[in-house]
Amino acid sequence: MKFKYCLYSDIHGQIPQLEAVEAAVEKENADKIIVIGDLVGLGPEPAEIVQRMMDRPWIDVIIGNVDLWVTRKIWETGTPKSPHQEWMFRMMEMTRERLSDDQIEWLDKRPFSITYTPEINRNFHVFHGTPYDIGDSDAFPFRLTDDEIGEKLDDFDFDVGAHGHIHGPSVRHIPKKNGETQILVCAAAVGMSWDGDPRPSYAVVEYASEGAWDAGNGKWNCRVERVEFDSEEQATFNENSWIEHGERIGGMIRSGTFWNPEHMPH
Ligand SMILES: [Fe+2]
Repeated sequence: MKFKYCLYSDIHGQIPQLEAVEAAVEKENADKIIVIGDLVGLGPEPAEIVQRMMDRPWIDVIIGNVDLWVTRKIWETGTPKSPHQEWMFRMMEMTRERLSDDQIEWLDKRPFSITYTPEINRNFHVFHGTPYDIGDSDAFPFRLTDDEIGEKLDDFDFDVGAHGHIHGPSVRHIPKKNGETQILVCAAAVGMSWDGDPRPSYAVVEYASEGAWDAGNGKWNCRVERVEFDSEEQATFNENSWIEHGERIGGMIRSGTFWNPEHMPH
């Protein structure tokens, strides 16, 4: 038995990047497509993204921290941790104004995480930030070593984990105390990357009963892919749209780097 999952995340209201990733994923012939959160925020077309996912019920969608900021009105309850978050919270309020009540309700009901179990005791766990935090208080940023991430995953025994949130795709082999290796896949991001490569990304996780790969008794194979995308037109579209500081978003789309490198969000 073989099973193929395709995953992408952090679309952030950006339609053309999503279409570029969807076209590439289509060719993968996946058995299951999973979107790992942050459909909205930071982009000009949040309602179109949510509606597109509502119209594709065969895709599993997990909620991201920014989605939750919009649906739970973070600007009324949360205190921004930085000037960056202050701007984000204002943008979330403006994003919510563009969503219908049905779209807000649908988005708010997406689960925090999903576990796929293609065969007994072989688990693939999918979450936006970490398996214990949506991404507001903790995350798995690039700067952490595999050992440091291993400590954070001490209590979790899934074979493979997949997340989004940090806007840079990777496949990491995490050493565990019991001597086994856990694979951690970051699928992000579709909308804009922060790892220096402006191309949108997605991830592929394959399971095979008779596998000969690198985790979970050799039954799992994971890879990330970048998709060619002409960023200039979409960067300009963001700059000229309703979003506040569209030039910051446009700059991230062009460069594939965070707009303020001194203050990375995690
Ligand atoms: Fe996020």
